[in-house]
Amino acid sequence: MITLEQVRALDAADPLRACRERFALPEGLVYLDGNSLGALPRAAVERQRQVVEREWGRDLIRSWNSHDWIGAPQRVGAKIAPLIGAKPHEVIVADSVSVNLFKLITAAAALSPKRPLLLSEPGNFHTDLHVASGATELVPNLRLETVERGRIEEALGPDTNLLLLTHVHYKTGERFDMARVTARAKDSGALTLWDLSHSVGAVPLQLNRDGAELAVGCGYKYLNGGPGAPAFLYVAEHLQERLMPVLRGWMGHAAPFAFTDEYVPAPGIARFLAGTPPMLSLLALESGVESFEGVDMETAWAKSTALFDLFAALVEQRCAGHGLDCVSPRDPGARGSHISYRHPHAFEICQALIEAEVIGDFRAPDVVRFGLTPLYLGYEDIWTAIDRLVDILESGRWREPRFAVRGKVT
Ligand SMILES: Cc1ncc(COP(=O)(O)O)c(C=O)c1O
Repeated sequence: MITLEQVRALDAADPLRACRERFALPEGLVYLDGNSLGALPRAAVERQRQVVEREWGRDLIRSWNSHDWIGAPQRVGAKIAPLIGAKPHEVIVADSVSVNLFKLITAAAALSPKRPLLLSEPGNFHTDLHVASGATELVPNLRLETVERGRIEEALGPDTNLLLLTHVHYKTGERFDMARVTARAKDSGALTLWDLSHSVGAVPLQLNRDGAELAVGCGYKYLNGGPGAPAFLYVAEHLQERLMPVLRGWMGHAAPFAFTDEYVPAPGIARFLAGTPPMLSLLALESGVESFEGVDMETAWAKSTALFDLFAALVEQRCAGHGLDCVSPRDPGARGSHISYRHPHAFEICQALIEAEVIGDFRAPDVVRFGLTPLYLGYEDIWTAIDRLVDILESGRWREPRFAVRGKVT
């Protein structure tokens, strides 16, 4: 039996405890949705004020040079690099994950036009599959096939152009072995494109060590970059000069202010910029990334696994018989930083929890998902969340009709 005293002792011994102060979170709220929209870093509030009033309001267009707005995509990319085990010049911030997927899928297809197969898995995040299917309509011969994850390695072959996978599954939290899968793909001559949206800032990543060549990732989840924050993309150094963007914008040109008609790609990763970067969002993302300052990802991951274990144990201990079926792997090496349960009334339970100030989220058709963010969650938050969950399940309050009403965003 886990007791509240034990949980408080975990908080007292938590090396990341002070990090919570970096975030402005409402009193009494248990926020378990940092895997969807990260919390607001306190530093972002002051920084945004400064950017709006001084850099935009006073210095106006001069800020592109004087405040180095123009260098921000590379600068913020370089700050993300240590979180993913990449070199600073291998990461750049731009656009959304969806757009960056398009850029890298089409560039990879052009690199090996004789290899027509774009391989992914069914149930991958839908934007990944949608962008991939759109690319197949544009690129001659390129075709998309999805195979179950257990069969991916055998499906790789001499016709595989690109393997497109999400490292940590958005729904179940299942995690691929990046080194192994990338190596298998390489053995068959294919590139792998990893979507790190549910990994970056959550699980320790070593892209260089694991041989990863292409990746994209989300800025608004664990990186705390704010709603709709721009995403990042990673291209391994050795590939950068070989990939030619199909989405060619002036910001990815070698000399954007030469205004020439012909396209000359910028050297290195900068060629994957397209249009003008959204400075307010990009600088908010910079504050989000800086909220990891001094945080060792192995320490953060150790806390994430402990939060997960506590959550799972408390559900087992206190919610037995209420039909919650954990769909996330128990092995820490095989999962990300969220815990998900299947339940026929997952939506209603999630809504009742939100009313009780425990914010998780629902993923159709029947999963309720809880993000475990080691920077701003304590162990007692988990205890409180489960307390409120038990109350909702035992009282049957989730059955009240208002909890069945669905908004546009679920
Ligand atoms: C795995 C994954 N990829 C991509 C996205 C969407 O990214 P964007 O909105 O930046 O296109 C999400 C959003 O939740 C996601 O979970």
